Amino acid sequence: MCSSGKFEPKSFRFESCRGARVSFISLISFISNENPGMTVKVSMILNGRPVAHDIEERTLLVTYIREACRLTGTHVGCDTAQCGACTVHLDGKAVKSCNVLALQAEGAQVTTIEGLVGEDGSLHPVQVAFKEHHGLQCGYCTPGMVMSATHLLRIIPQPTNEQIRDQLDGNLCRCTGYHNIIKAVQEASKVMAG
Ligand code: FES
Ligand code: FES
Repeated sequence: MCSSGKFEPKSFRFESCRGARVSFISLISFISNENPGMTVKVSMILNGRPVAHDIEERTLLVTYIREACRLTGTHVGCDTAQCGACTVHLDGKAVKSCNVLALQAEGAQVTTIEGLVGEDGSLHPVQVAFKEHHGLQCGYCTPGMVMSATHLLRIIPQPTNEQIRDQLDGNLCRCTGYHNIIKAVQEASKVMAG
């Protein structure tokens, strides 16, 4: 289990569960190297199932999830660690997966928006609340918003408005004006508390 603290949405740095700090600048220079990287094997538990693929070592986690694992619910909005559309859970912590190498998730538990749905197809209470309270319009930001919100409700089950706004600060939405998103997270927290 990761013990590196809470999700810091404004940060361009990701502190991995293995203690390594990778700056956004060094990550970009690593992946933009014109020489193709070495091929390496990566394996992890993705939405409760083991996955393993041979990938270029510079492959981003979001690219791995979308292209190798064919799970396209995780979106790419900016590719520069700013919009939060690519947010997933890595060992229980919300991270921007465009700011993490797939290799950094070796052996980890990764959950994407697809992994929130129950085995019977039922939506997660946060997904239901977004739907019922019009917390989305075009839906592009929604997977990242929902992953950030579910992380928040795990660490703070009854958050204040301020705490919701603070935690979702790194997730940008160009459509909703945010009010209905806040309302949806509040409602989900009540439903989840029973
Ligand atoms: S695509 Fe990752 S933060 Fe925008
Ligand atoms: S609903 Fe369109 S970007 Fe958020």
